[in-house]
Amino acid sequence: MPNKKGVFITLEGGEGCGKSTQIKMLDAYLKEQGIPHHITREPGGSSAAEEIRKIILSGSVDKWDSVSETLLFSAARRSHLTEVIWPNLEKGVWVISDRYADSTMAYQGYGRNDHLLSRADIETLYRITAGDFKPDLTFILDIEPQKGLERAQKRANLDRMEEQKLAFHENLRQAFLDIASREPMRCVIINADQTPELVHKDILDVLKERFHVC
Ligand code: TYD
Repeated sequence: MPNKKGVFITLEGGEGCGKSTQIKMLDAYLKEQGIPHHITREPGGSSAAEEIRKIILSGSVDKWDSVSETLLFSAARRSHLTEVIWPNLEKGVWVISDRYADSTMAYQGYGRNDHLLSRADIETLYRITAGDFKPDLTFILDIEPQKGLERAQKRANLDRMEEQKLAFHENLRQAFLDIASREPMRCVIINADQTPELVHKDILDVLKERFHVC
């Protein structure tokens, strides 16, 4: 992306880590600061990708194996990038995404753990989808899986991913921590087992330091 003017920020984490609440608070903060921004999500974010989202998230837990699932997430991501993320960044608009490619590595690479797809395969697919484009900053909202799942259960009926067993969610947590240790400049781990206000404060502290917003 030669003409990237905006900032691309992603929020990642396991189930019930509080991403949606944090994205709402971040949205309000950026509005208050007068920073043009676009809030989006994965899977989804463009009209074609939202169609794929419905196909992925509905149905039984074993509807797709990890290969099919990863290809579907990648197809959705490609549309999201070309239709929404890149055009906004080129205009100087900040893009904040509720999940992005680290979720593919975590859920399909570590969580499913069905050995059909290696982590190197997932990285290759990402390069085909996005080249060397990456988020400028990724917040990883970290919480014990048991606590996160309890929060998610209170909220709504569980989707295909949330219905997976506890070991799956423990793999996810480890995945996000591994990703953060491999890319410490891009990824910041936030303790999500605190009040929403304190989590928001931790996020803003990093934003202020990195992008000199006040
Ligand atoms: P969503 O309802 O958006 O869940 P959450 O509130 O947890 O973000 O559902 C998205 C689900 O898709 C979520 O369980 C994570 C999963 N997912 C993957 O498995 N791989 C991916 O690449 C992405 C982007 C999401």
